[in-house]
Amino acid sequence: MASSGLYCHLVALIFVAVTIQQGTCIKCWTCRSDSDPKCADPFDNSTVPISDCKQEPTLEHLPGIRPTMCRKIRQKVEGQWRYFRSCAYLGEPGIEGDERFCLMRTGTYNIFMEYCTCNSKDGCNSSISVRGFSFAGIAVLASLSSWLLLVFQRIW
Ligand SMILES: *[C@@H]1O[C@H](CO)[C@@H](O)[C@H](O)[C@H]1NC(C)=O
Repeated sequence: MASSGLYCHLVALIFVAVTIQQGTCIKCWTCRSDSDPKCADPFDNSTVPISDCKQEPTLEHLPGIRPTMCRKIRQKVEGQWRYFRSCAYLGEPGIEGDERFCLMRTGTYNIFMEYCTCNSKDGCNSSISVRGFSFAGIAVLASLSSWLLLVFQRIW
């Protein structure tokens, strides 16, 4: 049926438009706890700067990619917690769209890392992550994005 196909494409286009719209105008907390202890959890937003991601530079190693999300990274290195908050260039908000989930990875040399992304609202990287998610989630994300690619190829 031609009409239902058209409907699907319209929905996909609206989805893309909304995603782009959200992405271009988000503000994120920007700090790192090794230079500002208030960057840690519990987060104290009273003196931490908030950046408009639109104003952030395009990174040299990511040409053409604009920051459209916020992120919060929590890292334990040799028993010390470090926190980083900033605009995010890569990835998807949350895990399968659920911003309560973060990617977690345990590395060598006593390093633990938690990586959270969000784009639900300005300053959403204040405190996310109540629960973690293992890097097995990557497989889900990868299959999701290849599915999206397939959809896009059918549209354009
Ligand atoms: C900063 O935190 C306070 C208390 O949690 C909150 O009410 C306020 O909205 C936050 N400010 C911004 C700019 O998000």
